Parts: sequence; C-alpha cells; structure tokens
Amino acid sequence: MLLLDHSKEMHTAKSGCATKMPKLTIAIDGPAGSGKSSVARRVAAMLSYLYLDSGAMYRALALKALRHGASLDDESGPAALAKQTHIELKPPKPDQEAAGAKNCVFLDGADVTQEIRTTEVAQAASRLATIAKVRQVLVAEQQRAGAGGGVVMEGRDIGTVVFPNAELKIFLDASPEVRAERRWKEHQEKGERITLAEVFDEVIERDKRDRERKVSPLVRAADAVLVDNTAMGIEETARLIFMLAQEREKELGRVAAGKP
Ligand code: CDP
Ligand code: CDP
Repeated sequence: MLLLDHSKEMHTAKSGCATKMPKLTIAIDGPAGSGKSSVARRVAAMLSYLYLDSGAMYRALALKALRHGASLDDESGPAALAKQTHIELKPPKPDQEAAGAKNCVFLDGADVTQEIRTTEVAQAASRLATIAKVRQVLVAEQQRAGAGGGVVMEGRDIGTVVFPNAELKIFLDASPEVRAERRWKEHQEKGERITLAEVFDEVIERDKRDRERKVSPLVRAADAVLVDNTAMGIEETARLIFMLAQEREKELGRVAAGKP
C-alpha cells in the first residue's frame, strides 16, 4: 500500500493557526522548471498551510521502478509496485534546504531526496505518469493527504483531476528557455556535468509527453489564473499568489457569514 505521511511540525503549523478564515485548497500546476515547488513552498509557509509536491511521488516511484528493472510501459507492473510502496514527504532539514531541496522524500523508509532529482528519474517519472492505473493509486493518496484544505499542492493535474474544486488554481508558466536555464543552474550547483542544451531537450521532451498523454494531461484548468513568471523571482511570484489567496479567503469568509 502506498502511504503519504507528513511530519508533526507541518500539522502543527496547520492546526496551530487560530484564525477563523476558511482554509483553502490551492492547486498549482505547470510545466517543468516553471517554479512550482519553490513558489508553492513559499506560499504554504506564508499561509501556514501544508505544502505537497505531487511530482516527488511520481519521481520516488520511478526511482523504485528503475532500481527493480520494472517495465515503465506496461500497465499492471508499475501499478502493483505503487500499491506496495511507502512514500513520505517531510520538510527539508536546514542542510538539505541549503542544497536546494524543497522537501525531504523517503521511499520505503530510505531518504531519496537527492536521488530523485536526476534527469533519468525525471524521464522515468514522466513515462510512469502516462499509466492510468499508476495515477489512480497516487491521485487517491494525494486526495487523502489534502482532504480538509489548508494545503498548497503542486503538480500537473492538481486543478483538473486531484482537486477540481480547489478554491484557488494557478497555472504557473515561464518560457522554455528560462525554465531549462533554471534547471541547468541547479545541476551546475550540484556539480553535475550536463550541458544547457541537454537540459533543454530533457525539459522539452518531458513537457511534450506530459501535455500529450491521454490520461490527465498537463493543461490549464478553465478557472486557473495564468501566472507567467519568466521575468519574476520566487518571492515576487509567491507574494502575488499569497495576495490572491487572501482575497479568496475573504470572499469565502463573507459567503460563510452570509454577508454580500
Ligand atoms: O517545481 P518546478 O519544476 O516547477 O520548478 P522549481 O523546482 O520550483 O524551480 C526550478 C528552479 O528555478 C529552482 O532552482 C528555483 O530556484 C528557480 N526559480 C527561479 O529562479 N525563479 C522563479 N521565479 C522560480 C524558480
Ligand atoms: O520538478 P519538475 O516540474 O521538473 O517535475 P515534477 O513536478 O517533479 O514531476 C516529475 C514528473 O511527474 C512530471 O514530468 C510528470 O510527468 C509527472 N507528474 C504528473 O504526471 N502529475 C503530477 N501531478 C506531478 C508530476
């Protein structure tokens, strides 16, 4: 069975907030390198919400499939593997945060935070993500983890499939060149030998597969706010989404109180 656990500190942050404001479900979707993880994590911290990186789940499962030599293309094998897998997402430790990690990822009890960030795992994740039965297992877990609101979840299908009724949906985008350059800089900082052209090709190939797959393709939900942060920093983008969230909280608060 696949389980998604959260640390006590994340729950404390969520429940410790004594405000009467309604807790939103915020969905952030977008292509690779658009800034989803960095921005979602910052927005969640600003609102004292739970932050959930759904892509880390696909990556962790992909790492396991690669290690097991499992086929990434057949329907039943990876789905069975997903059901036997335990994934935990936790806030990063200070040293991991300093190294750029947005969260700490445990696969069957082992820390795989670094291992899941390779281009090989990213490609395998995107291939696994085309399998409907795999998505069913992971989506059910994401819905369970985000039930009750007060959550910022990011991925590809959060606003369209996982939480179609999310009170705030953001489609985060940036130009392909900028997205690839951002990813390449991360690889550079980790001392990995990969060219900008290689990273660009990886990002473009994955985006194409994610946008064109039959199940839950990457697409902007009709009611999602399009935020292009090609020329914006993380803090600036997070503040914009934070302000939109505050507006939505107020609106829902007024509706709940029966005020116009
Ligand atoms: O999660 P996603 O793949 O959408 O992107 P990310 O991992 O949050 O961001 C990719 C890289 O771009 C990170 O190193 C961020 O620090 C950087 N970034 C940036 O420089 N400016 C932004 N507005 C957003 C992200
Ligand atoms: O960080 P980056 O945006 O490069 O990728 P990620 O969010 O870690 O997701 C890795 C892969 O998992 C994506 O390329 C998608 O194929 C898949 N994914 C998905 O299909 N649905 C999600 N909700 C999240 C990720």
